[in-house]
Parts: sequence; C-alpha cells; structure tokens
Amino acid sequence: MTNRDPDLLPEDRWTALRGEFTIRPGVTYLNHGSFGPPPRAVVAARRAWQDDLDANPMDFYVRRYEPLLADAAEQVGKFVGTAGKNLTFVTNATMAMNLVAASFPLGPGDEVLLNDHEYGAVFRIWQRTCGDVGARVTTATLPYPLRDPDEIVAAIFATVTHRTRVIVVSQVTSPTAIVMPVAEICRKAAEQRIAVCIDGPHAPAMRDVDLDAMGCDFYCASCHKWLSAPLGSGFLYVHPRRQAEMRPLVTSWGKRTAADVPALWTDEFRWSGTGDPSPYLAIPVAIQFQQDVGLDAFRLHTHALMREARRRIEAVTGLLAFVPDVFAWYGSMLTMPLPPGDAPQLQRLLWERHGIEILVLTWNERRYVRPSFHLYNTQADLDRLIEALQAELAAERRA
Ligand SMILES: Cc1ncc(COP(=O)(O)O)c(C=O)c1O
Repeated sequence: MTNRDPDLLPEDRWTALRGEFTIRPGVTYLNHGSFGPPPRAVVAARRAWQDDLDANPMDFYVRRYEPLLADAAEQVGKFVGTAGKNLTFVTNATMAMNLVAASFPLGPGDEVLLNDHEYGAVFRIWQRTCGDVGARVTTATLPYPLRDPDEIVAAIFATVTHRTRVIVVSQVTSPTAIVMPVAEICRKAAEQRIAVCIDGPHAPAMRDVDLDAMGCDFYCASCHKWLSAPLGSGFLYVHPRRQAEMRPLVTSWGKRTAADVPALWTDEFRWSGTGDPSPYLAIPVAIQFQQDVGLDAFRLHTHALMREARRRIEAVTGLLAFVPDVFAWYGSMLTMPLPPGDAPQLQRLLWERHGIEILVLTWNERRYVRPSFHLYNTQADLDRLIEALQAELAAERRA
C-alpha cells in the first residue's frame, strides 16, 4: 500500500500474527463473525486440557473440575467486568439464550420485545417460549439508514407497552453487524422496570463489555467468535437480582463436590452429566492472546481493514452502507448492501470459484454481503474479495 492506514499493525507484527492461525492454504477466510478459527496457542491449550482429563478423569472431575472452572470464570469475569460467580459457561450464545428463555417468568399476555436486526434463532427461541405460555414477541422496526443511536433507542421504546417484560437486544447485530446503544437501552429499561437480555456473541474482544457497569439482567456470549476461544465456548451472565430464577435445561446432580464451598446459582449449571470442559478452560488463553496483541490495536487494525472494504465495496456496487463511517457504529465486520439477486448462490460461487468464505445474506428482502476481518486477514484477502465481487456481480448483470 502506498498510503498505509496508520491504524493497521506494523507489517512485521501483522505477518507474525497471521502465522498464529492455521487457516487452510488457498482459503480466503472472511467469516470470523460466524465461526472464528482459534490461534495455535488456544488450540494447544484446549488439547492440553483434554490430555490432562484423559490422563485421570477421576482426579479431574472429582477433585479439580470445580476449582478449575471457578478460576476460568474469574478470569473471564475480569475480562467482561464482573465477578466469576455471575457467569456460567455454556457451549454458545444460543444455549445461553435458551437458558434465559426457559427461566424467565412470563405469563399470558406478556410481551418480549425484539427488533428487526435480531438473530433469526433468537426470534425462534422467544417465539416458542412465548407460544408455550400465551405471551407474544413484539418487534421494533429500526430506521434505515441509521444516523443516530438515539433513533434506535426511540424505536425500541416506542414499541414498549405496559405488558413488555423483557427487551432482547444484540450488542453487535448479526444480519447488519452494527453496534447497538445497549448501555442507554439498559438505563431506560431500568427506569421502566423492564428486564434486558443482551445477545452478545460478537462483542467480547471486538467491543468493550463491562457487565456490572451496563446493568443488564442477562448477557449471552460466544467466546468462539471475536475472542477466538475454542469452538463451543461461551458464557451466560446473570445479574445477582435474577440468579435465583435460573433453571438448567439439563437436570443433573446440581451440587458441589466440596462441602466447604458456598452454594451458588451456578451449581445447577456446572455439571450437566459428564462432558468435555476443555473449551471453557482454554478461554483464558484466548484472552491472554488478545491482550498480548493489545485490544485497542486489534480493534483498530481489523476496523481499518473493514473500513477499506466498506469503501471499496461501495465503489463496486454504488450502494452505500447504512450507518455512518465511524468506529462507534461498527467494528471488525459490517453488512454491505448488494444489488438484488440470489444470496445463497453468490455465497456458493464466491467459495467455489474464488475460495472465499464469506456470508452473503438476505435481510428485510435485500441482499447483503458481510465481510469479517481478524488478525490473519491480509490486504490480499481484501483485494481478492473485491475482484471476486466485481466478477460475480458483472456475471449476474450479463445473465
Ligand atoms: C447476534 C447473534 N446471536 C446469536 C448467535 C448464535 O451464536 P452461536 O452459534 O455461537 O450460539 C449469533 C451467531 O452468529 C449471532 O450473530
């Protein structure tokens, strides 16, 4: 690059970091937002925990499991601004959201408020739960394009009624990849005594997460996205005022093995029968990896790549992104409008003809592409994406 973006990491540092990931040669991986590959240190940590477990399962489960999980929860808690005892590990944000829905006290006529940028599976979870008890899901429609976070808050609270019991909102949305004003939503909801459940799988590492300061009731996270922890690692945060309500989806022993340790709400969640806790125990290594890179450096670098992708995709399509070009609105990924067309087919062709793994989606009847940039992505990945998009969109026009 002639005019190198000063937010990018120095070239030698960036090259070294790329070597930490084991992406298959020939694959241009631009979908960390769906499934993020872990760096070598995290893969090694997970394997080491598995070896440790396999070497003496009795010792591991009976004597060491609880303190190990408590220690890992403490470290994750420190990273997201809360005490470890407010967290329980889960395989992913989906599991966390199911736990919240299964535990939240809802009755006939109650409303659960989502908005049109929420994740499809999250709609399904709450629709099913509401259907079971005679409650209903309501949906706020956010303005398009978006110019001011207050517009989001206003649209959500305009849909609140006296029956609204909980607002479910992403910190970073899935179909649109925008950053939502969750702190303000929590503040206003508290005034109206409405609970807030934040769907946060994209936030840890990509954005600040400060749970005690945010004051939400529930926070559902996947650590295998931007934090690059092992696939199948996430957590559920529950505010102390809500912890007594929580019920596990899987009933098991639900008790501590050490009698001298105080009882916690997490006791019911720690032992869902015998399983492999290695993904959870390796999360602290992923946190360390990110902290060694420097969280600000990581965010600036990946945002710089996304910012350039945004400008170049806009130049290819002539269609503008629908949020202002500032870090407050988006981080390491952003959903970019495409001309009308077949989304699954374009995603397939980008993979089959160009070796590019990327999400192409239809949202609110329009077609979009959602590039994600992590530490292993190169300027060449971006060039390949732009060339491939140019070629495939031109082919669509000719067809
Ligand atoms: C906003 C949002 N919520 C929930 C999920 C589900 O995450 P997971 O598959 O890790 O459970 C995703 C996945 O992409 C998402 O983007």
